[in-house]
Amino acid sequence: MTLELKPSNGPNNSGPFARFSVRMKFMMQPGGLGADGSSGSADIIDGKAHGDGVRRKVRDKVEKMKAAYGVTPGLAVVLVGNDPSSEIYVRSKCKLAVDAGMNSLEFRLPADSTAEELLELIGRLNRDPEVHGILVQLPLPPHLSSTLVINSIDPMKDVDGFHVSNVGMVGTGQDAIVPCTPLGCMMMLRHYHPDLRGKTALVIGHSNVVGKPMARLLLNADCTVLVAHKSSTNIPQLARLADIVVVAAGVPGLVKADWIKPGATVIDVGITRVPAPEKGVQEDGSVKTRIVGDVDFENVRRVAGAITPVPGGVGPMTIACLLANTLSACCHLHGIDDASLQLE
Ligand SMILES: NC(=O)c1ccc[n+]([C@@H]2O[C@H](COP(=O)([O-])OP(=O)(O)OC[C@H]3O[C@@H](n4cnc5c(N)ncnc54)[C@H](O)[C@@H]3O)[C@@H](O)[C@H]2O)c1
Repeated sequence: MTLELKPSNGPNNSGPFARFSVRMKFMMQPGGLGADGSSGSADIIDGKAHGDGVRRKVRDKVEKMKAAYGVTPGLAVVLVGNDPSSEIYVRSKCKLAVDAGMNSLEFRLPADSTAEELLELIGRLNRDPEVHGILVQLPLPPHLSSTLVINSIDPMKDVDGFHVSNVGMVGTGQDAIVPCTPLGCMMMLRHYHPDLRGKTALVIGHSNVVGKPMARLLLNADCTVLVAHKSSTNIPQLARLADIVVVAAGVPGLVKADWIKPGATVIDVGITRVPAPEKGVQEDGSVKTRIVGDVDFENVRRVAGAITPVPGGVGPMTIACLLANTLSACCHLHGIDDASLQLE
């Protein structure tokens, strides 16, 4: 795999963050063309292998940054309460930050923490010169406003890209920190469609975390963008028009094979844990589970040209992009030119 740097966020961004987006050539498990012009068997986009590639690249640059500038990127992860899934995500993010050679700082607050306590911690992290990236794990307990909390993070350290200032800049095609999941999706799409101009893209789901930023990035790349959500009544018809379908709905098996235009690229962001009795029972006697996406994978792969699996597709790219964003933020905060970290 090779990696090259290019602006991620549309034709207009030439500012500091543009330097750190990564364009990748992806290894695929190839498919083939069917007699009806459909792909017969889609290329499987291996997000895990390529997320590993991005992380390796980040780690090499971190090493070079330490040696050349004496700076170590620092990622602070804040977890409020003890939601089991959030705990797993936080552990994994902190471990991968350490694997990439970064400093990882984990802050745990009790579930009944007040907004003042959380904002006081974020204020300290904003001022801490050793911290370059701040991530508050969502969801927060219901008494805390995620909007208020996210907007209290220094936008330069907002490595999730959720601060309203980063959202607005991405929306207007300016250089900004791009949310990790849509950034990872764009990297994968850019492999298949180096020139996205004029492609018709359907985004299913319009959350602030995935759907909306995904649609904005595709629009910045001059795609014709359709956005559907749970109130949309004609999603199958819209999907049949699309060269690219990105789905982030959290509805297992939502996207069916007869929705897909032959040869289209399908990116499945969905992650839902479902019972898997075929795997047996856990130690506590409960049925084992498995992760599924929003796409009827086995049938859609017969029609699509390329498709991300779940697990092993978008998820690993998301964490890799978090590390890439942290490295970018660190470079930016220290005025380090990414070009000086290029490997031979
Ligand atoms: N792979 C990753 O790294 C990653 C990152 C973030 C989210 N996710 C997953 O992506 C999915 C979406 O996450 P989110 O945070 O955007 O969720 P969300 O609940 O905030 O938003 C869901 C969106 O899907 C739409 N929707 C719901 N049901 C629908 C239906 N039947 N048809 C069409 N649209 C429908 C809703 O209108 C909404 O816009 C979840 O499964 C989540 O776990 C994965």
